[in-house]
Amino acid sequence: MELVLKDKPDGPAEGQILFCPVLANKDEIDSLVKSLGYEDEKFVLSRIARENFSGKKGQSFVMADNLQTVIILGTGAKKKLLAEDWRQLAGQMVVHLKKIKAKKISLYVVHWLKGNRDIKLLAQTIAEGLDLAKYDFDKYKKKDKEKIKVSLDELVVYLEEKQKNDFGQGFELGSYFAWGTIKARDLVNEPPGQMTPSFLAEEALAIAKENKNISVKILDKEQVEKMKMGAFLSIDQGSSQPLKFIHLKYIPETKAKDKIALVGKGITFDSGGLNIKPGDSMEQMKMDMAGSATVLGLFSVIGQVKPKVEVHGIVAACENMPSSSAIKPGDVVYNMQGKSIEISNTDAEGRVTLADSLAYAQKQKVSTVVDLATLTGAVMVALGPDYTGLFSNNAKLANELLVSAKKSGENMWQLPLPKEYKKLNHSKIADVRNIPNTRYGGAITAALFLQEFVEKDIKWAHMDIAGPAYAEKQANVYTPPGGSGFGVRALLEWLLSK
Ligand code: BES
Ligand code: MG
Ligand code: ZN
Repeated sequence: MELVLKDKPDGPAEGQILFCPVLANKDEIDSLVKSLGYEDEKFVLSRIARENFSGKKGQSFVMADNLQTVIILGTGAKKKLLAEDWRQLAGQMVVHLKKIKAKKISLYVVHWLKGNRDIKLLAQTIAEGLDLAKYDFDKYKKKDKEKIKVSLDELVVYLEEKQKNDFGQGFELGSYFAWGTIKARDLVNEPPGQMTPSFLAEEALAIAKENKNISVKILDKEQVEKMKMGAFLSIDQGSSQPLKFIHLKYIPETKAKDKIALVGKGITFDSGGLNIKPGDSMEQMKMDMAGSATVLGLFSVIGQVKPKVEVHGIVAACENMPSSSAIKPGDVVYNMQGKSIEISNTDAEGRVTLADSLAYAQKQKVSTVVDLATLTGAVMVALGPDYTGLFSNNAKLANELLVSAKKSGENMWQLPLPKEYKKLNHSKIADVRNIPNTRYGGAITAALFLQEFVEKDIKWAHMDIAGPAYAEKQANVYTPPGGSGFGVRALLEWLLSK
């Protein structure tokens, strides 16, 4: 889609549809209608009154003649809209575009931007909302002729001259943020028969090939054995799909300001292993690689977004399957740091693979490690389906991530890492046990397990994304059911803030 920035139109606006956001305020609505230049302005205003359009958030008023449809979108009474309001407004536009065929649309925001200093952020969120709301994972479906597929060639935005530069820049950035998110959604939505560790590795290779600032290393089983990743190997044991250890690296064009590792849980299917899951809990377990999808999705656009820090993307990818070679409850394994882990439940596999990917990440001379994992059902008990649980050993890091998440419209809430709870992961025969000895606080005890493998001088944050990584039903106007790509935008925002 091409973005075209124009001055306020003299005559009728361009495109098959003109979208006009408006505040919930009678004067604002009147002046908007006046500026649209209808001959029978009184008629339009009386229709607006008759249909009770007051500009409430989510409300819309549609007018059409044989040339064009004009859609006025209510943005609510709040004068200062937040980034997330704008994102949802763009999503609202897509709801209309699924009903009315259009290739070229225009957006009239001049009046509405007066006094608004953050044009760049506005443009960014509009690009995000449009692209994300259009998303539909339909590659396995026969094409539905009745359904209108939203595919725009051109978006015309009416702006004042001095707003154009910022708007263009923000829109471009927002498009990259959306594309990275969409890449992650695609990876999560891919069925588990396709989405194997080898598939993920191929995706990583393709990402590196397309970008000169990105390189990749894929380790196979033999190399993983050499590195003594006994924890990762133990989870892979039951599967006939070969494991892959993926290490992506992005180097900025100017001297890196910092070195950061992003680690994603990459269980391409979680059956539970010998502690097999009941059928209805297993059904969605193709999503157990969502953390790795976020890392790959982010890397697919990092070369365009260009943060000024070095970034490592690390994924230990394997399946968790039951078979005669599978890891057994009661087994003890060693991670590459030489710590022993008692595997008491094979369904708490993510934390075991992460014991090795976190260890590997810390060997890359990074200052900071952030991991993303669909780690526990317990985080959903604690925070519900739409919030990520954030854990960190560093208050400043936690705060930065919360701020970036807020700006991105991604829900995140910090949970504690209490020292007193460390003993809950005590093992009688090994250094640590992979399940706690209480059923309470499961998201916290899982995070404390991970912390066992984090060295003292490393800044570390863990995001338990089990809830929002996969939307069981439409989560908001721009997040359809399925993989959400959670974390791509918040982390890009955070990397850019460095
Ligand atoms: N992949 C699951 C966590 C999960 C559950 C993600 C639901 C998304 C939705 C993880 O591997 C798991 O099975 N965790 C167990 C841990 C338990 C055995 C300590 C869980 O949460 O039940
Ligand atoms: Mg390259
Ligand atoms: Zn599991």
